[in-house]
Parts: sequence; C-alpha cells; structure tokens
Amino acid sequence: MAQLFTKDTQAIFWNNNTTAIQRMLDYDYTIKRSKPSVAAIVAPTSGNKFEKFFYGSDEVMIPLYKTTAEAKAAQPQADVLLNFASFRTAYDVTMEALQIGGFSTIMITAEGIPERLARGMNQAARDLGVTVIGPATVGGIAPGAFKIANVGGTIENIVNSKLHRAGSCGLVTRSGGLFNELSNIIAINADGIAEGVAIGGDRFVGSVFIDNLLRMQDNPEVKYMILLGEVGGTEEYKVIEAVKSGKITKPIIAWCIGTIAKYYDSGVQFGHAGASANAEAETAEAKNKAMAEAGIHVPATFNDLPAKIKEVYESLNIAPIPEPEMNVVPKVRRTKQFICTISDDRGDEATYAGFPISSVATPDTGKGIGDVVSLLWFKKQYPKWATDFIETVIKTVADHGPAVSGAHNAKVTARAGKSVVESLVTGLLTIGPRFGGAIDGAAEHFKYADDNGLDPKAFLNHMKKLGIPIPGIGHRIKSLKNPDLRVKGLMEYAAAHFPATPLLDYARTVEALTTSKKENLILNVDGTIGILMVDMWRALGYSEEEINEFIASGTLNAFFIVGRSIGFIGHVLDEKRLAMPMYRHPMDDILYDVQVAEKI
Ligand code: ACO
Ligand code: LMR
Repeated sequence: MAQLFTKDTQAIFWNNNTTAIQRMLDYDYTIKRSKPSVAAIVAPTSGNKFEKFFYGSDEVMIPLYKTTAEAKAAQPQADVLLNFASFRTAYDVTMEALQIGGFSTIMITAEGIPERLARGMNQAARDLGVTVIGPATVGGIAPGAFKIANVGGTIENIVNSKLHRAGSCGLVTRSGGLFNELSNIIAINADGIAEGVAIGGDRFVGSVFIDNLLRMQDNPEVKYMILLGEVGGTEEYKVIEAVKSGKITKPIIAWCIGTIAKYYDSGVQFGHAGASANAEAETAEAKNKAMAEAGIHVPATFNDLPAKIKEVYESLNIAPIPEPEMNVVPKVRRTKQFICTISDDRGDEATYAGFPISSVATPDTGKGIGDVVSLLWFKKQYPKWATDFIETVIKTVADHGPAVSGAHNAKVTARAGKSVVESLVTGLLTIGPRFGGAIDGAAEHFKYADDNGLDPKAFLNHMKKLGIPIPGIGHRIKSLKNPDLRVKGLMEYAAAHFPATPLLDYARTVEALTTSKKENLILNVDGTIGILMVDMWRALGYSEEEINEFIASGTLNAFFIVGRSIGFIGHVLDEKRLAMPMYRHPMDDILYDVQVAEKI
C-alpha cells in the first residue's frame, strides 16, 4: 500500500465527536470530495440513528451505530477506524476492530493507554498488516484526499498551510502541534505535503517513523521526506539503517527536537511520554549527529530547518503544482428543522422515494397502491408478490359492516353534523388493541414466542402471566363453525405466493390449542395480517432488528388504518346521502343503575 488514503477513503468514527467530524466534512467540501470521509459514527450510548452535519451550506446525515461491528457491517467500504475512545476504552475498541477485520488503518487519539496493553495492541495490528497511527496523536492527512479529524486546525489554517491539495513532501512527526507548524513551514518554503502522519507521543506507538517513510518511499507523489523526531527512543536509527542500506533513496530532511536536554543535569521528561532519553544514543544531539553522518539533511538548529527545506526542495526542481478550484465553506449556516427521506417536491414533479408520481400513478405504469406504500412507507421497491399482498390486505380490511366499533363511531359522528374528516377520525380512534389494532401486538408476541422456541402451551402460559389476551386471537362473531373467510383468503394468498410462512405455520399450532378451549378463539384477521407481514419481511431479507422496529413503531396497524379508512368514509358518506338525523341511543337499551351519592 503506497498511499495511506485516497479521495475514496471513508472512515468509521468511534465516538460522536461532532466538532472533529464537522471539520472533516468541511475539509471534504472544500476539496470537493464526492463522498463524505466519515461513513458512520459509533456512539454506544446514543439513542439516535444519525447525526446531522453541514456539507457546505447543505446538511448530510451520518448514521450512528451502537457498536463497531454494526457500523462495519452497514458500511463495509469504510476501512479506516478513527478511534476517539478515552484511554480507558481505546484498547478494547482497537482490539475489537482488529477482530472484526476489514480495517486497513486504525488511528488512536487517546493518550495514556497502559504501555503493556499498547505494545500488545500494536503488535496485534502489525501481525494483521493494519497500520496503526497513534496512540496519542492528532492523526494524519493526505492533502486533497482525506484528513483525520483535527489535523491542520481550522479550514482557513488548512488552506493557508496548503493542506487542501497534494504537494510533494512526505512528513512524519511525533507531535501533532509541530505537525501543523511544519505544514505551514513547508507551505511557505516548498510546495506543501503529499502525505503526513503524526505518529504520536506515547513511548509505544503503532506505526513508527520507518514504517511511514518506507511507504512514502513507494508513493510516487512523495518526492522527498521530512522527519521530525524528538529526544527519547531509537526509532531514528532504523531510518538511518534504511538510508545506509539503500531502502530509502528519496532525500530526507530531519531534525530531532529536545537538544536542550543536555543543559539539564539529570534526564528530562518532556511533554510526550516517549520524550525522555534513557541512554546517550537516545538524546536528540546523538540522533541528529548520526542522521547527518548517514547523509540525511540535518540543519544546524531547528531555526535553520525552513532554510534547509527550501534548499532541498529547490534542488529537486519539482514542477509547480497547479492550484485546484476549491469550494468555500459558508460562514453562516442554518440547520434544518425537519428531515424528509421519502418524497421530494422540489423539482418539476414530486417524487415518491425517487420515483416521479407519473411513473406510478396511472394504470399503464403497472404500479398499484402496494407499490406506492412500499415506496413511501419503506423506501423500497417490493416485488410484485409483496405489493400484491399489501393490496390484498388493504382491500380485505376495507370494511366489516356498520356494527363494528369504528364504523359505529363514524356514523354517530356524521349524524351529529360533523364533517367527513371529523367523522373519519372518530372511527379511526377506536382502532386499538381490541379492534383492528391488534396487528402489531400479534406480530410482536407470536414472533417472540417463535423466536424463543415456546410451544403453544408455553406461549399461552407466557401470555397469561403477562395478563393480556393474545393479540390476533379471538373474534366476537367468527369461530370454527363460522370461519372468517378473510383469514382464509389471506392464508391462501400466502400459500400460493410467499416463499415460506414459518410464523404463520407456528401461529396455526397456537390456534389449534386456543380453539380446542373455545371455538371463537380463532386466529383472527388482525393476527393473520401481523404474522404474514413478518413472514413477508423475512422473505424480503429484512433483519430481525428491522422487523422489530417496524412492529415497535406501529407500522402493522397502519395497514388496517389505511384499509378501514375506506370503509369509514363510505359509512360517513352513506349517512350524509341518507341525510340521517342526529342519533340518540334508545334509553331502553341502557341499564340505568344510579345510586344517590354518599356524603363523605
Ligand atoms: N386470548 C386468550 N383468551 C381469550 C382471548 C385471547 N385473545 N380472547 C378471548 N379470550 C377468552 C377470554 O379470556 C374469555 O375467557 P373466559 O370465558 O374463561 O373468561 C373468553 O375467551 C371470552 O372473552 P371475551 O373477551 O368475552 O371474548 P369476545 O369474544 O368478546 O372477544 C375479542 C373478542 C375482543 C376480539 C377478544 O378475543 C380479544 O380481545 N382478542 C384479542 C384482540 C384482538 O385480536 N382483536 C382483534 C379482533 S379482529 C378485528 O378487530 C379486526
Ligand atoms: C372487523 O374487521 O371490524 C372485525 O373483524 C371486527 C368485527 O367484530 O367484525
């Protein structure tokens, strides 16, 4: 892998660090990336499903997941993990990501991971060929392609430091602060950087100087390298070896900071955990001397570094890099109050999940109400057997006569002089656990029983303990002797068109038991719909979590609501057509049992 990141690289960001992620997206917008560099965020404690970020003046939604495994499964193309977990969690997050696999680079920002754990973690990554940047780092950048989190600072600073497009220097530092400083120096004295990594300040970091420099040696965009080391450790000697053995042939400019240490009597521990010399060879002085002797360009002092960079860069006669056009991140941005992911009315013609209305509305399109439901409710194009099933359900539940709760309410309301919408709504308000609204409950409880291997008897006991009648079982007038032909119709459709009906097969074993106790305890129309919808979604490839979410959000009752609205409106129109007077319930149909209230 000669290049760490490309313009297609996408990351999973562990921790919802909105400021850092926004900086990445501002960068993406500035350099005109086609896809955001963050594909997913792992936010273990958030109940949200996405986080909104600006992309220019627009907003984009980045999905949130509770675990790395879920994020990776949903965004398999994202092969960089930006591990922003705290030092207490960062090790576990990294080890889990290595086990999940599919990551080429893992960046770890936390400082202070116990050194024993850090060594094991770094070795595990190395064994798997995964590049670790950090721990204790701001990360790295491939200018014009991909930037990790806060590298380079604000967008203004990034453009000033020419980090918005690739230059020709490969930069490796330990420190993140000096990384930014050097980017600026390189922009002023040369043409910017092609790739840069701050390897991190801990004593044991994943990828070390030599790993990064060898990759840059192979990266044709890198024409020369700058190495900013520091007092402590012996990693610079590996670079010296590579230069001596001819593994690295591109010019290197290098400096180790910390030369001041010699002015102190005892060993000095600088800000980084690794920045302390344990032997003469680990001092900045010794390393600078050894690097100069190996032919590496070492300035006399840190202050001479800019001039050295200019000198080496100019000696290479690199062709000037054309400045690309950039987007400018707007200064003032407004977040949007509402989000819509199902339809769009901004063009010439409104669309349902991307389909213009005219492409689904007329009979010649071959599309029906089932297709419209699948687009607007599920944002998917369901196959014909499924859209036909949805239509069959809607038609089947459209009405069941005037005596049922909802129709009765709608009729009474219409006769009180109320409008179609008012009368319809009173009808709809009766839909619930006893009437028409047992579909979600049936799906939930039968699915639970089947998922948990409860036999019918155990299921009945389980429901008894919960103290609720089994949703989807029982009917006021329908029974074994007077079967509900709607149920028969739905089952016949499923038998002929569904790839399989495992949950229905299970529900029928439950029905056999309940009807053996009482013959009206049949699998009713609500139950049959709820159970068959689960079978339909399973056959369509939905995950169990997705199906559970449909159930929890009330999606299944919605089929009854849509269908029965047709019938309620029919009853309301019927009342209006007949100009029926206000309804008063016959008093002889009411048992009056009113006692004189006791005085207390
Ligand atoms: N699960 C377990 N036992 C039941 C169930 C059930 N779903 N339904 C009725 N029973 C039992 C009752 O506990 C009662 O037992 P008991 O005689 O030992 O006391 C007996 O059957 C009669 O109960 P009722 O409530 O009088 O039965 P009814 O025939 O009036 O009820 C109803 C019909 C309301 C549909 C009922 O069966 C029920 O609540 N079912 C669950 C909800 C449901 O599925 N509703 C949708 C119906 S279809 C539609 O509305 C489109
Ligand atoms: C309905 O569809 O409304 C019913 O099954 C309820 C009933 O009592 O007929």
